[in-house]
Amino acid sequence: MNAAKVAIDRVTYLEERVSYLEEANCNYVALLDMLTSCSDFQADLNRDKSVEGIYRATLAQLGRLFPFQGMGILENKDDNSFALAVCEPSSCWNSLSIDIDAAIMDGTFAWALNRNQAISVPSANGNHTLLFHVIATQTSIRGMFISRLAGKNRSIDAPTLNTLSSILLTSAYSLENCNLYTILREHSQNLEEKVQERTNELLTARYMAEAAARELKISNEQLCNEIAERKRAENELIKAQKLESLGVFAGGIAHDFNNILTSILANLSFARMQIPHSHMIARRLEECEKATVRASELTQQLLTFARGGEPVKKLIDPVPIVKEAASFVLRGSSVRSRLDLPDGLWCVEADGGQLSQALHNLLINAAQAMPDGGEVTVRGENETLETDNSQRLPAGAYLKISVEDSGCGIPEENLSRIFDPYFTTKSQGSGLGLASVYSIVKRHGGTVGISSRIGEGSIFDIHLPASPGNQPTGVAVKEAAELRGAGRILIMDDEDFIREIATEILQYMGYEVESCADGREALERFQKARELNNPFSCVILDLTVPGGMGGKEAAAHLLKIDPDAVLIVSSGYSNDPIIANYKNYGFNGAIRKPFDADTLARELAKLIPKSN
Ligand SMILES: Nc1ncnc2c1ncn2[C@@H]1O[C@H](COP(=O)(O)OP(=O)(O)OP(=O)(O)O)[C@@H](O)[C@H]1O
Ligand SMILES: [Mg+2]
Repeated sequence: MNAAKVAIDRVTYLEERVSYLEEANCNYVALLDMLTSCSDFQADLNRDKSVEGIYRATLAQLGRLFPFQGMGILENKDDNSFALAVCEPSSCWNSLSIDIDAAIMDGTFAWALNRNQAISVPSANGNHTLLFHVIATQTSIRGMFISRLAGKNRSIDAPTLNTLSSILLTSAYSLENCNLYTILREHSQNLEEKVQERTNELLTARYMAEAAARELKISNEQLCNEIAERKRAENELIKAQKLESLGVFAGGIAHDFNNILTSILANLSFARMQIPHSHMIARRLEECEKATVRASELTQQLLTFARGGEPVKKLIDPVPIVKEAASFVLRGSSVRSRLDLPDGLWCVEADGGQLSQALHNLLINAAQAMPDGGEVTVRGENETLETDNSQRLPAGAYLKISVEDSGCGIPEENLSRIFDPYFTTKSQGSGLGLASVYSIVKRHGGTVGISSRIGEGSIFDIHLPASPGNQPTGVAVKEAAELRGAGRILIMDDEDFIREIATEILQYMGYEVESCADGREALERFQKARELNNPFSCVILDLTVPGGMGGKEAAAHLLKIDPDAVLIVSSGYSNDPIIANYKNYGFNGAIRKPFDADTLARELAKLIPKSN
């Protein structure tokens, strides 16, 4: 009986043992399954770089490990507080929160934090078991795992718990990696931002440097231009100074030369006056006179350069002036002249000397443009311009004089500059020729135009206001008898040879003549003659008296003494505004030096009535 009982007990024990082993075997099989899936879990963790993703993968893996009723993970926040971040299933969020609060209150939570293994305690209501496990690496706590197991004191076998610990350790490292990855990403983002910022700064600096370099280049160019401009201005100044001193020099010589010419011309003309017009010597004397007049025109040109000047206008016939200029300039050169000067060309109110000078300059240029010879044509035409004409001149009658050559022509780029003072393409040129043509024509109220073709030639057209219908008073030499007059004349001139010849001419013409060398003496003589009741009919005053009172000042005093005094101004500076506008200064007439006997006598005959 006993033996049977023992045997039965033994069988029962063995059966229990077998069933235990079977259960353990099942558990091990499940554990092995779960461990096999660990490589998938690892892959999930590696793939998912978000904290939430790691939480979810961890819970899924633990769900495979053990049939928890509910489980969740609390996140360790930056301020070291813990908050439920995920739970599985989501319906147990509230009940797990209650369990967590209770565990925090009774110290279980803090206890679990300090243990690196699973802690299981019965829940507050005693219905199930709570299992806590910290999720931590060696250096930091990443969170807390919490789960519910059915039954009050439910336990989990050691292999399962070890596996749970290792899963949570893996999870903790993944969370740490994730955190490091986030920090790294932030850093690299920061770094990228910094690099971008720095790149932008560098770009801005580069743009600024480039802009500064450009500005520098521009200001450098400006500086170079300014230096070149200054250099040019300096050269111009030096040129102008040279020309000015040359002008002063030329002006001085011209003045003296003019006085000498006055003496020659006056003597020649006086000599001619004293012989019959038909005498063979009269012709020779006339030629001498003409040469002297040309020499005087040259001095006028010098004086014009030296001072510029107002034209002394009178009605003149252009034909003799054109003929004279052409023959004078082209004589002895290989250039022929063809003059196309139809009858009936209008006369012009002009300064003969200046007009002749302008023609000389144009003809010289034409000849110089044809160094191998050729033909220059001077054409005269009457032209009536309407309003809005291409010359931009007031409507009216004009004399057009064209000087045409078949020379080298003027390049397009020079056309706008040829009238500029000092513009020249000639090694020996001063560049004043056309500048003075321009200023002379302008002063006469006209225009000068140019058309030119390279290799074909140039045409210069001058338009001058004309006086249709008027003829200049005859220039033919009158017999001296026609110019005789009477009256007392006072001549003031600082040059004694001029005083002498003028005195002789006038005495010859029938006048009574006194002379003096400066303005002060003239005043005294004038005053004295009045006191003696033997006044002068006319006073001829030289404009410029070096070191003494000149004609302008003397005239002002004389007119104070006698407002009706008849005064004539004489000067070599025909371009002096006083000569051009003598009436404004109280003079009744003007004589340009050099004068001939005829001019002097004619001027006096005009001003002093014969009855004197
Ligand atoms: N008929 C022309 N044919 C070709 N070029 C001309 C002619 N007239 C003037 N020029 C050009 O115009 C420039 C200026 O002429 P301008 O008469 O003012 O001075 P210039 O003849 O050079 O020197 P200057 O007359 O003072 O001796 C000349 O250097 C020349 O290049
Ligand atoms: Mg010239």
